[in-house]
Amino acid sequence: MNQIDSDRLKKIEKDIRDFYRQQSWLVRLYQKIKFKICPLLPLESYFPPEGTILDLGCGQGLFSLILYLGSPKRKIIGVDLDEKKIEKAKELVGSIQNLSFTRQDIIQDDYPAVDAVALIDVLYLLPYETHLHIFKKVNDCLPPHGLFLLKEMDTRPRWKYLWNILQETLAVKIIGFTLGSRFYFRSQKDMLLLLNQAGFQTKVINLHQGYWYPHIAYLCHKKT
Ligand SMILES: C[S@@+](CC[C@H](N)C(=O)[O-])C[C@H]1O[C@@H](n2cnc3c(N)ncnc32)[C@H](O)[C@@H]1O
Repeated sequence: MNQIDSDRLKKIEKDIRDFYRQQSWLVRLYQKIKFKICPLLPLESYFPPEGTILDLGCGQGLFSLILYLGSPKRKIIGVDLDEKKIEKAKELVGSIQNLSFTRQDIIQDDYPAVDAVALIDVLYLLPYETHLHIFKKVNDCLPPHGLFLLKEMDTRPRWKYLWNILQETLAVKIIGFTLGSRFYFRSQKDMLLLLNQAGFQTKVINLHQGYWYPHIAYLCHKKT
């Protein structure tokens, strides 16, 4: 990452902190933990500075807000199955004109035509047989060369994978923080095959250095 990108990300981080300053301690704690354990911020730089971006499984809208703060010329549509998270997202950032949040099931519902799509830490909650279907829907809603950024957890290194399973079990099955009942992680090789089948040209970005979790991103462009 060059100096300009690094300064930009520091500025976004500061803006996020300022933004969350008026929120409850619980919301601030969630944001702080998320930044500590997940390289969300660096993903922002891959998105075009203008155009409409669909944030699939947006949760409470943190990444949508990062995208907006990175470039207010972006229009972001956040969708999530969890009504409570959508309500929270609206309450937190819904007053910003270029951000909108809607309850939607990304397996069943249609996607609007957009310039880029983010799918961040969602796929592992959805059954294997839905993955190709989702990738094809993403491909259909993008223009030629349009960007699809998929962030997941890899199945390697093994110890990070096992640590992640432990933590996800706590979040999904014990605390009930995220909707879902079991996990559907894929190896890098499997994921690349599927993305290729759905019509994407993909570059892998390993993000796990310095983290306890096997973070991985797939930078995909629609093939023409
Ligand atoms: C681990 S959270 C990630 C949230 C957000 N992308 C982030 O990185 O902060 C997974 C999200 O996927 C959502 N989700 C699960 N199944 C979904 C579905 N079928 N349609 C839309 N959202 C779904 C959950 O409600 C949850 O908010």
